[in-house]
Amino acid sequence: MMPELTDRAAQQRLEAHHAHLVAAVDGAVAELDRACLDDDPAAAANAAVRFQILLEEDIGPHAAGEERSFYAAAEPLNGALVRSLTEEHELLRGLIRACGRGSADLGQRAGRLSHLGLAHEVRALFRAHAHKEDAFVTPLLLRAMPAGTVAALFVEMHAMPAAAQS
Ligand SMILES: [Fe+2]
Ligand SMILES: [Fe+2]
Repeated sequence: MMPELTDRAAQQRLEAHHAHLVAAVDGAVAELDRACLDDDPAAAANAAVRFQILLEEDIGPHAAGEERSFYAAAEPLNGALVRSLTEEHELLRGLIRACGRGSADLGQRAGRLSHLGLAHEVRALFRAHAHKEDAFVTPLLLRAMPAGTVAALFVEMHAMPAAAQS
C-alpha cells in the first residue's frame, strides 16, 4: 500500500515542482537567447517550439490545477492574495498566447527579438509568481486548515479535469 502523503511532503513536492518548472523555463529561454544571439532562424524556430510546448503542456495546466485546488481553498482566507495570483495567471496566459502568435515571425530578426522579449517576460513573471505561491499560499493553508488539507489539495491539483479526460 502507498504511504499516505503528509501535508509537509505535499508542500515539499509543490516547491520541488515549482523549482523544476522555473528551471525548465530558464533553460528554454536560454536556448532562445543563444539562437537570437547567433542570428540563427532555424535554431530560434526549434527553441520556440520547445518553449511553446513547455508553456502549453506544463505551465498552463499547472496554473489551471492550482485554481481548482489551492486557490479555491485559500480564497476565503485571503481573497486579495488569491485575486492577485489569479491576475498573474491571466497575464501568463496572455503571454503564452502572444508567444504562440509570435513564433510565426521568427524568420526576421525583428520577429525573433520581439519573441525573445515575450519569453523574458514569462521567465520573470513565472519565477516571482511561483516564489509567492511557495511563500504565502501553502503556509497560509498549513496554518489555517485542518491537517490533511494541503495533501488533499495537492492530489486534487494533479487530478485531470473531467473535460481533459474525454
Ligand atoms: Fe500559479
Ligand atoms: Fe504554481
